[in-house]
Amino acid sequence: MTSLSLEGKSILLVISGGIAAYKALDLVRLLKKAGAELRCILTAGGAQFITPLAVSALSGTETYTDLWSLKDETEMGHIRLSREADLIVVAPASANMMAKMAHGLADDLATTTILASDKPVMIAPAMNPIMWQNPATQDNLAILEQRGFLRIGPDRGEMACGEHGEGRMAEPAEIFGAIAATLLREQPLRGRKALVTSGPTYEPLDPVRFIGNRSSGKQGHAIACALRDAGAEVTLVSGPVALPDPPGMNVIHVETAIAMLNACQDSLPADIAVCAAAVSDWSATAIMKQKIKKRQNAMPPALSLKENPDILAMLARPSPRRPSLVIGFAAETDDLIAKAQEKLARKGCDFLLANQVGPTENGDEKVFGQDENHVYLVARDGHQDWGHAPKDMIARKLCREIAKRMEENHDQQRQRA
Ligand code: CTP
Repeated sequence: MTSLSLEGKSILLVISGGIAAYKALDLVRLLKKAGAELRCILTAGGAQFITPLAVSALSGTETYTDLWSLKDETEMGHIRLSREADLIVVAPASANMMAKMAHGLADDLATTTILASDKPVMIAPAMNPIMWQNPATQDNLAILEQRGFLRIGPDRGEMACGEHGEGRMAEPAEIFGAIAATLLREQPLRGRKALVTSGPTYEPLDPVRFIGNRSSGKQGHAIACALRDAGAEVTLVSGPVALPDPPGMNVIHVETAIAMLNACQDSLPADIAVCAAAVSDWSATAIMKQKIKKRQNAMPPALSLKENPDILAMLARPSPRRPSLVIGFAAETDDLIAKAQEKLARKGCDFLLANQVGPTENGDEKVFGQDENHVYLVARDGHQDWGHAPKDMIARKLCREIAKRMEENHDQQRQRA
C-alpha cells in the first residue's frame, strides 16, 4: 500500500478530538513515507489526546493549532493553508467537527480553514455508535455529502469506550488508500477549460411572475462535477436551482436566457461546452413594471413573447472562439431520435444527449427533478442507447466520451501539422 507515491501532492490533515486521534499519527507516518507534502492542524479537542510535538515529530513540519497565533498568520495564514492543499483530510472527524462543518461554523483554525477552502475535503468520522446513529449526526453527514465531501468509514467493531457498533475510525492504511485513490485518480481533462450551463431560466413577466420550467439542474450540476473530477477547470452557469454550489469550480448564477448567454460568452475561451440548461425559448416583449392585475369581466391578458437567443447554437457556430467540443441536450416528449437528429443539424453542435421528458403512464415526471435519466448519445453518424442510470453516472460516462473525443481531435490536429 505504502509503495504508492504521493510525491508532489499536498495534503492538509486536520486532527480533531477523540481517542482515534492517536491513529492519525499512523496516518501522518504513511503519508510522509509516500512523499506527500503534509501540513497538519490539531484542534483543541485533538490536543487533549495527542500533542503537537508528536504530530510535528512525524510530519517533519510545524503543527498548526491556533487561529489567533500571529506567527501562523504571517507565515502561513489559514487561507494559504487551505488553498495550497490538493486535498483536506479530517481524521478523526468528531461529531462536533462534522456539525461545525455542516453548519459553516468557523470558531477555530481547523473550521475556519475548511470554510475558506475550495478544495475537496475527505472526512474519516470517529465517535461512539449512538452519537453516529443520532439523527443530528446523520443529518449533518447528509449535508456534507450533498456538498461533495468525501467519506471513509466509520468501521464497525469494539469502541475504546467498550461499546460495540459502527463508529470506529477507518484504519490509517484504509484512509491512506482512499487519499491515494482520490489524488492519483486519472484526470484526462487536466489543463482543459469547460463551460457548463445548468438549470432552468426564468423570464420575468412582471415583478412577481415569470416563465420558467421544471429543470432541477441535477444533470447539469452532475456534469460540472464530473468534469471537475476529470481535472477540467470548470465554469458552471446556473439558472435558479435549489442545489448548493458544487465546490472547486467557478459558479455564475443567472436568471434569464440573455444573462446566461452573456455569462457564457464572458467565460470563453473554453475547450469544452456542455449546454444542459433548459433555456426558456421565449421571453416577454415587455416586462411590466407593475404587477399585471385581473380586470373584472375582462379576458385574461394575452402574452406577447419574443424568441430568446439560442445559447447552444451560438456557442457551436464556426468562429475562432468556438470550443473544440460543443455538446447539447435534446429534451423531447416523442419521436426522440429523429427529433434529436434534426436538432443536432440545426444547432451545429458535435453531439447531443437526448432524453424523453414528460409524465410516465402513472403520471410521474420521467426526468425533471429525478435522480435518474435515460439518455441516448445522438451524433451525425448514428446513436447509442446509454440506458437508464443515475444522473451522476451519466455525467461520468459523458466525461469519458468527452476525453476520448478530445484525444481524437488532438491526434487529428497532430496528423495535419
Ligand atoms: N438551448 C440553448 N438556448 C436556447 C434553447 C436551448 O442553449 N435558447 C440548448 C439547451 O441547453 C439544450 C439544447 O439547446 O442543450 C436543446 O434544448 P431543447 O429545449 O431540447 O430544444 P429547443 O431549442 O428548445 O427546441 P424545441 O423547442 O424545438 O424542442
